[in-house]
Amino acid sequence: MSKLAVFASGSGSNFEAIASAIEKGSLDAEIALVVCDRPGAKVEKRAERFGIPVLSFYPKSYDSKAEFENFILQQLNDAGVELIILAGYMRLIGPTLLRAFEGRIINIHPSLLPSFPGKDAIGQAMKAKVKISGVTVHYVDEGMDTGPIIDQETIRISTKDTREEVEGKIQAVEHRLYPAVIHSLLQDKSIGTRR
Ligand code: GAR
Repeated sequence: MSKLAVFASGSGSNFEAIASAIEKGSLDAEIALVVCDRPGAKVEKRAERFGIPVLSFYPKSYDSKAEFENFILQQLNDAGVELIILAGYMRLIGPTLLRAFEGRIINIHPSLLPSFPGKDAIGQAMKAKVKISGVTVHYVDEGMDTGPIIDQETIRISTKDTREEVEGKIQAVEHRLYPAVIHSLLQDKSIGTRR
């Protein structure tokens, strides 16, 4: 069974959607580790409820990104992780992890990339008054939300929608799309197989 690591910085609702899909049997994988760069974030409690180990760290306690990524890499290797799933991990992945997990890191982003990359994609879309936005799952490269797109799904934004309503539409798509995309990638065997 493929072993995943989920990286998250905040609430972890996408982590929970993936863990629930595994529990229900619609995703044949195991989350070996949750990596969290904000100790105390809600994702830690969610992981605890699923009995999944969490590696939490303060990036500022390290001299460099290379140093903390080497530390993470060691734990990923010890746990036999094959695929890294970014789920609200608000930090660029550096060369250390990119090199070690080339083609095996994916991210979910709350817009139709290449529109609205970076922070607060939902706020950016609402400010631009677009009628259609959505969710993108893509491979991670060194850029900010720039890697090759794997899948996308749209949502409609009405002028009457509040921020909470748009967030709700985005999350409903994310929680269904991400586990399904991970499932297809793992079936495809070109990913999740340790080289
Ligand atoms: C999700 O909407 C995800 O798409 C977004 O952060 C949220 C995390 O929610 N990620 C990005 O904006 C990455 N650029 P969650 O912690 O509840 O899963």
